[in-house]
Amino acid sequence: MDFEEMIIPIKTLWRFDYESNVKALRDLYEVAKKEQWNAATDIPWHLETDPAQVGEVAGPGGDPLKEFDFISDLPEEKRIELSKRRSAWTLSQMLHGEQGAMLCCGQLVEVVPDIDGKLYASTQVIDEARHVEVFHRYIQRLDRVYPLMGALRELLNAILEADMWQKKCVGMQVIAESVAMGGFKMMKEGTNDEVLKQVVELTAQDEARHVSYGLIYMKEELPKMSDEDRDEVEDFALAALRIMCDPQKQMETAEPLFNIFREVGVDMNVAMEEMQVKFADPDFVARQPNPFKLYAMPQLDRLGLITDRTAPAYREMGLRD
Ligand SMILES: [Fe+2]
Ligand SMILES: [Fe+2]
Repeated sequence: MDFEEMIIPIKTLWRFDYESNVKALRDLYEVAKKEQWNAATDIPWHLETDPAQVGEVAGPGGDPLKEFDFISDLPEEKRIELSKRRSAWTLSQMLHGEQGAMLCCGQLVEVVPDIDGKLYASTQVIDEARHVEVFHRYIQRLDRVYPLMGALRELLNAILEADMWQKKCVGMQVIAESVAMGGFKMMKEGTNDEVLKQVVELTAQDEARHVSYGLIYMKEELPKMSDEDRDEVEDFALAALRIMCDPQKQMETAEPLFNIFREVGVDMNVAMEEMQVKFADPDFVARQPNPFKLYAMPQLDRLGLITDRTAPAYREMGLRD
């Protein structure tokens, strides 16, 4: 059995006035009900997956290793094996992220104050369940499920443990969901496997709705909050991005990936040497897109959650020009 247990106090809120009071959320609830799909029957599972056609299923920042000699020098068979395993590793992070989203949304059903917010969030619980189902099933075609990486685990747990629903909403719906959506779109473009294409296309459609929920709800909510509470939400967003962009944590994340390289016979001395050279080259580093800068920062900006108080910290992290 592989599990983690957390004891989280939750302020559950009943709502006894059932009339809609946030129309845009009620409309989104209607859309969510219409756009349900079935992971068991709406994916062409009858098609075989040719690992050579899956492509490099990289994270939402693209594949930073695509220009590395130690990979292109591998014999084709090994390169495909490496690609399969790395893709399974990336999709495993997505899979765990989907479960984190499902747990978080279950909390949102309880903690958000509006009936429309609760009805909508309950549709997202089943969306995320479907995503867990679909990614778990797809990963079996490539390799095994890999463990949840440290930084993502820390972010998801911070969201689950957050003491205000507005923090959960910004952490999951605005930051995590927008980055996931960007990642799925990138994967769809990068793969020639019809099964994966359909998996990420349908999933990204749902994630777009999840981001909308966060944006609509927080746009409603932020002006109603006290300055102190609003600052707390702003600080939570910054802390979330600090977790995901911390270079030390990124190195820890790289370790399990290095093990995958070793498994397929990469000489890690050669690989490390090349990586050190490339990652010390400012041009190379500048070419690597940061998914948090690309996808999460514009949404935080849109909500006015980056102010003079926090902008310098984002600049220091390279997330803002
Ligand atoms: Fe999802
Ligand atoms: Fe989602």
